[in-house]
Amino acid sequence: MAAWGSVSCAAMRILSGIQPSGKLHIGNYFGMMRPALELAERGAAFYFIADYHSLTSVSDAAQLRQNVLDVALDFLACGLDPAKTVFYRQSDVPQVTELAWILSCLTPKPMLDNAVSFKDKVADGLTPNVGLFTYPVLQAADILIVQGARVPVGKDQKQHIEITRDIAGAFNRQFGEVFVIPEPVIKAEVATLPGTDGRKMSKSYGNTIEIFGDEKATKKKVMGIVTDSQPVEAPKQNLDQNIPLQFLKVVAPGRAKEVESKLLAGGYGYGEAKKELLAALLDHFAPYRQKRAELEKNLDYVQQVLRDGAARASAVANETMQKVREAVGLR
Ligand code: ADP
Ligand code: TRP
Repeated sequence: MAAWGSVSCAAMRILSGIQPSGKLHIGNYFGMMRPALELAERGAAFYFIADYHSLTSVSDAAQLRQNVLDVALDFLACGLDPAKTVFYRQSDVPQVTELAWILSCLTPKPMLDNAVSFKDKVADGLTPNVGLFTYPVLQAADILIVQGARVPVGKDQKQHIEITRDIAGAFNRQFGEVFVIPEPVIKAEVATLPGTDGRKMSKSYGNTIEIFGDEKATKKKVMGIVTDSQPVEAPKQNLDQNIPLQFLKVVAPGRAKEVESKLLAGGYGYGEAKKELLAALLDHFAPYRQKRAELEKNLDYVQQVLRDGAARASAVANETMQKVREAVGLR
């Protein structure tokens, strides 16, 4: 895993993607989006909306279009600066599917059999399609086609980046040095943020707190976060397991310190800590909520940003594909 501080080369390419498969949540934001936005200051960032990947789970065209727009609005509202970051829709760069095919021909099938996220979904009872099985190969193509050197993600994506490294290494050994070998960038304190039920926060578990949920819904979710049953009067123990405090540390470290002292002292309940978290979340996202409302009135601008991003990403993709086709003998 790349150390956060070692990322400094201005020309280095940084790439990440997010699936438009539902409403984005604060696990996505603090685990991937905020770190990715910080990292974008240190290199040439390429962030995209992984709509091809979403086809593995979304089968309603109108829904997919709406989700793509929502992710675009969410990311721009949360601070993505299209002047600095190439921001695009994956399917606007279809060269990536050609690369995915080429890479799939040098990916050993057992490597995909071992992909944990695939195995988890099947274990949850999902009947998998072939797209879900080969999902990591398409993800490898996303990264390699822009020669991404750093990939900011949450911890659940680590194995996918390792698969990408293996595939890129195999390609380079077989056909000559074409690809940069990428490294994941995962911030330890936000690597796996918990959901309201204590499992990893995930769209698929129904335990999320949405970034742009309305105030009432956010309140309901925050007040419903599971905590242990130590009474209000008790000086609290095992606070490292406490979800409201864990989030407060991420959202508002100053407020978290105060709340932690009060919990340790006793006579201060988890309900109070949750109210602090709710207030901190509403404060943190208030300016983004306003920005999102403005962007919603200017959808032409949003579409233009995606078109510009697609043109820039496509130019880079064409360069890579020329080398790849040459290397494998397709020209
Ligand atoms: P979900 O599990 O909700 O479907 P995605 O797979 O779309 O989320 O994740 C998008 C990005 O957000 C990925 O980089 C992923 O690692 C990160 N992420 C998702 N959930 C969390 C979480 N609970 N904690 C930290 N990062 C997360
Ligand atoms: N699999 C990632 C997720 O579910 C989304 C993704 C697709 C991605 N292609 C990528 C992330 C390339 C990083 C790099 O979150």
